[in-house]
Formats: sequence, C-alpha cells, structure tokens
Amino acid sequence: MIESKISTGVEASLTALAASLRGVTKAYDNGVMALGPLDLAVRKGEFISLLGPSGCGKSTALRIIAGLTAPSSGTVRVSRHEGEVQPGHGIGFVFQEPTLMPWTSARENVRLPLKLAGVPKAEARARADEALASVGLADFADAFPRELSGGMKMRVSLARALVTDPDILLMDEPFAALDEITRFRLNNDLLALWRGLGKTIIFVTHSVFESVYLSQRVVVMTARPGRIQADVRIETVEPRGEEFRTSVAYADYCRRVSAALAPSYSGQSVL
Ligand SMILES: Nc1ncnc2c1ncn2[C@@H]1O[C@H](COP(=O)(O)OP(=O)(O)OP(=O)(O)O)[C@@H](O)[C@H]1O
Ligand SMILES: [Mg+2]
Repeated sequence: MIESKISTGVEASLTALAASLRGVTKAYDNGVMALGPLDLAVRKGEFISLLGPSGCGKSTALRIIAGLTAPSSGTVRVSRHEGEVQPGHGIGFVFQEPTLMPWTSARENVRLPLKLAGVPKAEARARADEALASVGLADFADAFPRELSGGMKMRVSLARALVTDPDILLMDEPFAALDEITRFRLNNDLLALWRGLGKTIIFVTHSVFESVYLSQRVVVMTARPGRIQADVRIETVEPRGEEFRTSVAYADYCRRVSAALAPSYSGQSVL
C-alpha cells in the first residue's frame, strides 16, 4: 500500500480533519460485506477522490459519512468549524442523477433544503439565487428542469447541495452521465468553486483521468469489501487548467493511479 503523509493520520490533529473513518466496515442485511475495514482521514478543505471498481463500497462509504447508513463497526467522525457534529450535519450530497423535482423551477429545487430547514421564504429565495449564480445559472432560476441540458441540471443539483453552506461536499459520480466536453467544463467550474469556497470535497468517480485532474489526493480502493489500496498525492502547480490536463506530469499520475487500480480488476487493463 502506498500511503501519503496525511493518511498515516497520527500527525494530523483531529481538529484539522473534516472527516475520519477508523476501522469502518459495512455488512448489509443480506450478508453482503460491502466495505472495509476502511481507515480514511480527510483534512479540512481537502479535495480527495475515491476510485475503485464497481461494487467496492464507494457509495456506501459516502453514505456512512453522510449519516445515511450506519457502519457495522468502526468509528466515524465529522467536524465542522465549531467542532465535532453528528454524521450528516454540515454535509451536502450530490448524486449521479440530478434528482430534480420536474414540476417546479430551478430556484424552487435549490430552495428545497432551506424550506425543509424552516428558513423564511424571502431569505431562502435569495440564497437559492446566490447558489444558482455560483454555478453559472443566474439567468435560469425560473427555468424548469425540462428546459435545462444535462450539464445544467447537474449544476442545479450542485447549487442545491451548496445552498445550506455545508463544510463537506460529497459527490457520487456526479458527472458520469455527461458528455466529455460538458464534463471537462464542470470539472473546471468545480475546481473554481472549491478554490473560492474552501469546502472539503470527497468525490467518487470511476475515471482515473477525472480523479487525477481534480484532486489533491486519489484514494484507490480494493474490490469489495473496499479497503484502501493506494493513497496517491497529486502535486502540481495550482490553479489547475487545461495545461495540466495535457502535461507529462498529469499522464504520469494517471499511469500511477491506473497501476494502483489494476489489481482490483484482476489484471484487466483499466486504460
Ligand atoms: N442497500 C443495500 N443492501 C444490500 N446490499 C447493498 C446495498 N447497497 C449496496 N449493496 C452492495 O454493497 C456493495 C457495495 O455497494 P456500493 O453501492 O457502495 O458500491 P460502489 O463502489 O458505489 O459501486 P458503483 O461503482 O457501481 O457505484 C455492492 O456489492 C452492492 O451490491
Ligand atoms: Mg456507487
């Protein structure tokens, strides 16, 4: 196992961590051992990707961090600026499908989490418009989902996750269904948002290329039950842009991450 300085954990004080998982396992009721034991420490403000074969427990890990599923064993800690909170608090979740309400506008879709939290309507509308503007959709607040492209729907979904101002953003293959050009654009916009907002992002993807382009660390998982196979730190000149995507350093990192992933695919080529 290749380990970065951060994942060895001991030197990172708990207060500097956004999330930490220690010895986390998950066995579903049907007997499937989905995860672990998994040890993962994510620093505040860090952008990490989880990469691994289908079924290795990536979504399960995110759901555990979000407090949507309880681990079978192990401990999960999630911190906010003011200290430790219950899993699920201060967290925004973006899924592969935008899952928008088709009968109402982009603004109302984004406002939903605030409405559920009882935020007064005028304030919630203003915050929804602000979130839409942050993802480049200021002019589409009144549009219905059917009037939006796939990429725009994903932007609305991202705005809905950001509107509560979470400290941690969990993203589960958010751009997997998009065409490559739209995906590249959203990659760049997500990086700009991350730089501007200083949030911690845990991003799940099947794409070696996407994980290396976006993250400060790529955590490669083994086949089910998912454990950490490799933890690769991506060090490059920031901010990243198209020149990084076409650089020798980028290709080298992609090769390294692919090599780490290969055993999980039983020797099949992943590139
Ligand atoms: N609610 C559930 N009940 C039973 N088994 C489940 C449940 N959710 C997931 N699993 C099983 O747990 C394992 C891990 O699932 P998970 O969805 O976390 O994997 P994943 O890495 O996200 O896969 P993918 O890349 O295909 O999205 C799989 O074998 C899956 O079938
Ligand atoms: Mg999944």
